[in-house]
Amino acid sequence: MVVLDQRVLPGATEHLKIGECAQLVEAIATLAVRGAPALGVAGAFGVVLAMDEAARKGWTEAERDAAIDGIRDARPTAVNLAWGVERVRPLVAAGRDAVLAAARELAEADTAANRELSRLAADWLLERFGDRPLRALTHCNAGVLATSGWGTALGVLRELAARDRLEHVHVDETRPLLQGSRLTAYELAQEGIAHSVQVDGAAASTIVRGLVDFAVVGADRIAANGDVANKVGTLGVALACHVSGLPLVVAAPWSTVDLETATGEDIEIEERPGDEVVVIGGERFAPEVSQGFNPAFDVTPARFVSLIATERGLVEPSAGTRPTDLA
Ligand code: MRU
Repeated sequence: MVVLDQRVLPGATEHLKIGECAQLVEAIATLAVRGAPALGVAGAFGVVLAMDEAARKGWTEAERDAAIDGIRDARPTAVNLAWGVERVRPLVAAGRDAVLAAARELAEADTAANRELSRLAADWLLERFGDRPLRALTHCNAGVLATSGWGTALGVLRELAARDRLEHVHVDETRPLLQGSRLTAYELAQEGIAHSVQVDGAAASTIVRGLVDFAVVGADRIAANGDVANKVGTLGVALACHVSGLPLVVAAPWSTVDLETATGEDIEIEERPGDEVVVIGGERFAPEVSQGFNPAFDVTPARFVSLIATERGLVEPSAGTRPTDLA
């Protein structure tokens, strides 16, 4: 398996050759591969990797299954990872070709879903704003890099740009791992979309001052009631939108909706090493005694979510509709 190493973008374009499950788990845990839909696809291909490694090393079925479990559990918040693994796992008995074909299908379906949900969200926005160029804010990276193609939140922005209805994008840098300034800005620059990168602390003010018309983000897990887990900082964006009467749009494929999770309170929030917060470029800038607190995600309650756009259709949680309505 070969993956683009997102840790070193945009400075370097390097690929990781992954031949063992432990390497894939490491790549996921360190965010070489990241973004909920991309994790789903990596999980599905990870099952093929486990079958190959099992055959090479003469593993028992139990050892192979434990390796598959390890991939599934490499990160806890994005439901897509477990979803991707469990979608293809039942085919293990049918053989490698069947699992590989299912993983490929899953990746193709993800790109198609992203295109459809982007179209639906763009229609919703333009109907609301009267078909004029819009100014947007986005947080983290929900683009091509985070999916198998096209993107979710960034897919909506690309769709608006394709219709000549996108004026400017404010990109939150997304501390501590800078998915906004490293990855989203990189994708927007490649697309030729006008944008500026701002510190996360500027987001509320950008929204409340009316410098944007709406905010759009992806999601790592959407609970049955419409609560949304996404990159930490999303909740602040949502609250500022709520106060200002601006829409917060969540763009995600149906694979991110977890109907078995009733509300956001039931979503496990990954807590990452504190050093990611207090060490920058290898240099610690907080006092030695100061610990970093590093929850990677937060949960935005459904009442602050104006729209969830999926390929199955749209729901407006703040107006009372729920993902369960599309089930
Ligand atoms: O920690 P990350 O970079 O994997 O977090 C990614 C996000 O929070 C994205 O917004 C989400 O996965 C949606 S990607 C289409």
